[in-house]
Amino acid sequence: MRKPIIAGNWKMYKTPAETRIFMSQVEPLIRDAGLDVAICPPFTALETALQQTANTVIRVGAQDVFWEDEGAYTGEVSPTMLKDMGCTYCIVGHSERRQYFGETDETVNKKVKALLKQQLIPIVCVGETLAERQEGKTRDVCLRQTREGLAGISPAEAVKLVIAYEPVWAIGTGKTASAADAQEVIAYIRSVLAELFGQSAAEQIRIQYGGSVKPDNIKELMGQPDIDGALVGGASLKAKDFAAIVNYQKS
Ligand code: PGA
Repeated sequence: MRKPIIAGNWKMYKTPAETRIFMSQVEPLIRDAGLDVAICPPFTALETALQQTANTVIRVGAQDVFWEDEGAYTGEVSPTMLKDMGCTYCIVGHSERRQYFGETDETVNKKVKALLKQQLIPIVCVGETLAERQEGKTRDVCLRQTREGLAGISPAEAVKLVIAYEPVWAIGTGKTASAADAQEVIAYIRSVLAELFGQSAAEQIRIQYGGSVKPDNIKELMGQPDIDGALVGGASLKAKDFAAIVNYQKS
């Protein structure tokens, strides 16, 4: 019932010229994928990514946004600007933004609301650090980040967004959560969504797993009943690897 969604988070990698090459390599490999595919390049490569993916199955997203439509906010980019360019998605609350750039549950919430207002799809990241996991706080952290990040959103809006469960200790480390661990936490997040928005909405909301997703572990992850896709960092930078992840059903 939930359509799988595989999204690439390029982080601070790739120039427009590199983006052009990637898109021309990946597009023929994934055109029959039959699921939702997104690439989130840096702001400076959005225009190129959008041009290169026009009339393809690939949709484009940003990695962050500010919550005001316009104003004296040096260095920021607004939801209306992303919408006007033709973006579809925007990542919000990635752990790197929480860790290095002061993102909080409150700013995540403002960004999610501002994106929904422009009919952009937020990909809202939640997940515990290694210390939090070791202290047995995984559920507490996911509960807080989900509840506060999505505060004040209606069930009709909630069904449009995507959640990405990304255990921080699995990001860029080569350590993937086991499929069973990821399933367990994601099922828990879905139960939180059911409390917030009702059972029917919770069953429609797509929840991705992220953290060292690779061609050789995607199939097992996607085999879990509550995992609806992946947010892919490192492996999304290589067209062949990203295509193999998108085509997991064919391997
Ligand atoms: P990774 O990153 O796949 O390189 O672990 C995932 C992410 O940060 O979204």
